[in-house]
Amino acid sequence: MLCGRTNVNKFLIEEQRRNPALIGDLSMLISDIVRSCKAIAQGVSRGSLAGVLGDEGQVNVQGEVQKKLDVLANQAFLHHCEWGGHLAAMASEEMADIYPIPTEHPRGRYLLVFDPLDGSSNIDVNLSVGSIFSVLRCPERADDRPPSSADFLQPGSRQVAAGYALYGPSTMLVLTVGNGVFGFTLNREIGEFLLTHPNLRISPETREFAINASNERFWEPPVKRYVSECLAGRTGIRGQDFNMRWVASMVAEVHRILMRGGVFLYPRDSKDPAKPGRLRLMYEANPMAMIVDQAGGLASTGDAHILDVQPTSLHQRIPVILGSRHEVERLERYHREHANGEDQPFRSPLFSTRTLFRDD
Ligand code: F6P
Repeated sequence: MLCGRTNVNKFLIEEQRRNPALIGDLSMLISDIVRSCKAIAQGVSRGSLAGVLGDEGQVNVQGEVQKKLDVLANQAFLHHCEWGGHLAAMASEEMADIYPIPTEHPRGRYLLVFDPLDGSSNIDVNLSVGSIFSVLRCPERADDRPPSSADFLQPGSRQVAAGYALYGPSTMLVLTVGNGVFGFTLNREIGEFLLTHPNLRISPETREFAINASNERFWEPPVKRYVSECLAGRTGIRGQDFNMRWVASMVAEVHRILMRGGVFLYPRDSKDPAKPGRLRLMYEANPMAMIVDQAGGLASTGDAHILDVQPTSLHQRIPVILGSRHEVERLERYHREHANGEDQPFRSPLFSTRTLFRDD
């Protein structure tokens, strides 16, 4: 039954024939990324049997304790992607600085940015985690200088490919090369990702949202307004009941949204004034924004489209609101109305402020 399915390599070759802009080494680079994800899937699925769970004992550039699997997953990307001649440099959540391709390998024309294992607090409790990646063109340079971190600081609209692997009950690869979003499922018997979800689209409407409710007191007013209206359900202004989910793994949340719609929020909050959001622009927000955009959804900070944001540093954080287009547009409107002081009814004490924990 499976022999009729398209594997990811065939998909890339056919895509390349349709789209001449997708030059040969991009599809070969994606094949190297796919190999990295297969190796990580193997480590994640063996868990305790392979002795890969637990902390590594180091702290990464984000100030987060690295898990052993974070480090192994980072090594898998470097190992599988450095030698092919397609890349000029890589950057990842787990490395403070960029990783220029060692001189023993040919230097290519792309840059790869990745989060090798996103949601890694879920690893030790055997819940879904994922890898996220983004491919950019390396700016042309007259001399032979190696790439610098400044070369990576391109807005998400310049990504040529983006995707994620979800290590869940089944391992899936979701990919865009700028021509729609395609989902592949790993068949472990033959070691191949097979096309199972062609042309994924996010429904514009939804009745499901995802947010870490423990941060409620730190949220910005437009987000408080949105969530309180959802919670009011059919008796409130929205006139319908909403459902809530939180996996604490961005890959799993985005995947659920691709499958059945929804909106995901990790908004700007006042918890730590030094951080404008929790998620990282270059290797979390941007690749997910490209996928969501290609699937007909929308990704925003609340004030600007994520794909338009000019990065200023490699590990920059950013507020993220993404998913079903009409809900994200509503959240953008609430941000505009708040900025213009037009959300007075909401600010009034007469407004019934519902919270997640009580209904005043
Ligand atoms: O840093 C990324 C991440 O693990 C995301 O995958 C996830 O959406 C979020 O952080 C979870 O945050 P929290 O710990 O606040 O639930």
